[in-house]
Amino acid sequence: MSQSFDVAVIGGGPGGYVAAIRAAQLGFSTVCVDAFKNPQGKPSLGGTCLNVGCIPSKALLQSSENYHAVQHDFADHGITVANTQIDIGKMLERKNGIITKNAAGIAFLFKKNKVANVHGLGKLVGRQNEKWLIEVSEGGETQQIEATHVIVATGSNPRPLPGVEVDNVRVLDNAGALALDQIPARLGVIGAGVIGLEMGSVWKRLGAEVTVLEAMPTFLAAVDEQIAKEAHKYLTKDTGLVIHNGVKIGSIENGADAVTVKYELNGEAQELVVDKLIVAIGRVPNTAGLNAEGVGLQIDERGFIVVDDHCHTNLPNVWAIGDVVRGPMLAHKASDEGVAVAERIAGQKPHLDFNTIPWVIYTHPEIAWVGKTEQQLKAEGVDYKKGTSGFAANGRALGLGMTQGTVKVLACAKTDRILGVHIIGPMASELVAEAVAAMEFSASSEDLARIVHAHPSLSEVVHEACLAADKRALHG
Ligand code: FAD
Ligand code: NAI
Repeated sequence: MSQSFDVAVIGGGPGGYVAAIRAAQLGFSTVCVDAFKNPQGKPSLGGTCLNVGCIPSKALLQSSENYHAVQHDFADHGITVANTQIDIGKMLERKNGIITKNAAGIAFLFKKNKVANVHGLGKLVGRQNEKWLIEVSEGGETQQIEATHVIVATGSNPRPLPGVEVDNVRVLDNAGALALDQIPARLGVIGAGVIGLEMGSVWKRLGAEVTVLEAMPTFLAAVDEQIAKEAHKYLTKDTGLVIHNGVKIGSIENGADAVTVKYELNGEAQELVVDKLIVAIGRVPNTAGLNAEGVGLQIDERGFIVVDDHCHTNLPNVWAIGDVVRGPMLAHKASDEGVAVAERIAGQKPHLDFNTIPWVIYTHPEIAWVGKTEQQLKAEGVDYKKGTSGFAANGRALGLGMTQGTVKVLACAKTDRILGVHIIGPMASELVAEAVAAMEFSASSEDLARIVHAHPSLSEVVHEACLAADKRALHG
């Protein structure tokens, strides 16, 4: 006899676990099925984000930033620290502790909200009497669950590079890059995307020589050009990453004690020999084991589950959210889709605006943006105005010793409505929230310019950029 629920969520990442909690809050009997196991073979909720993504990467970024600051920045404050050392084992222990704590937190939230939690791989079997049948397999055992609604939140996997085997010993994906227990003397990274730059920064700050090989001719092509240019300067000159754009990877040989990457740059054959190689060339949606074909769940040519604007699939009462569907592969996008689907099942009319989803790259300085880039506005023929302001003279930034960066506000030339905000600088990840809220409320740059911002604070640079958009900057 199978257990019966109103809602079954397949996948316990930030999309799935949040959808399950919200569904339960709305009064549905809910189960969440998740297959993730940690390196000790134990179930660990939270998906890619918590186990091998957002959270551990930010933990290592902070540890490495602290190490770097002690060595390079503290002297300016009159602090000298002799014999600075980093204990990589302790750093990994801290990171793993954060994962364990947060995973236990999700399990607690499931209990609190009465979400049933089943560990194993969920497979859609079929539909009978208005109920979907799901088979969950784990360790050779199977159990059946039935549910009126199914929310698929099975996430994504690293995109493989043809002909290259990730062994997570020498050739690493995100999981391997987050678990290195020694600082490699020479680290290669394929892909100057978000993972490549974040993980490259971590290991560079800890002492590795890092070379990043990127296929695209332009650096961070999705980022506002002005900000991307500034980021390139800081990441190469200050962080010390060696970044080659426009490379064509030839062969990768995982030898006895080194990895050799043969590639072409500006028509010339090149070779990079490294101790470890991270491959981070994007991610692909994960529908393995779901039996999508068997039940007729529509998948597009790139492997994404096809959904409408409300995340409904082609099958009745089957929904899909997060990395496994179109849109940015971001944890907060997955979670907000999860909430929206649960509320739609409850008959509500939630709405998610993709144009106001913020992006953050947690390099030093951080890069964050929301809305349109200047190159997008140009391409779309939109008449816009802009205001920029730097952190260099901001009192708080000076106090923090973090004066690099710029805020750029783009607004409609006619209405002054904010169309995009682009930030590179300290705490850009936090500063962008004001821009998101402003855009959600269709604010004008004048609205933000007339709001009182605390002094001294980094947010004054956002304020100043809005004043500059109206040609009345006070400090520019
Ligand atoms: P996932 O988090 O991938 O979760 C899917 C879950 O479903 C997994 O636990 C998986 O085991 C399980 N599963 C899969 N198939 C089945 C099945 N058939 N049955 C049962 N369970 C199944 N995003 C940000 O917004 N900010 C960041 O800072 C950030 N940093 C990142 C850093 C790295 C290194 C990586 C790799 C990603 C990062 N991301 C970040 C992206 C973010 O992790 C994803 O966008 C997010 O995890 C997607 O959530 P999801 O719920 O769709 O899927
Ligand atoms: P990405 O899409 O950000 O970057 C991949 C890069 O690899 C691109 O620049 C691409 O041009 C390049 N590339 C592709 N094929 C290549 C090849 N054959 N040779 C050389 N370069 C090649 O993907 P990434 O970094 O793997 O991250 C995956 C996703 O995870 C991101 O798109 C993002 O959605 C999410 N993520 C988000 C983070 C955040 O929000 N801070 C942090 C890390 C990941």
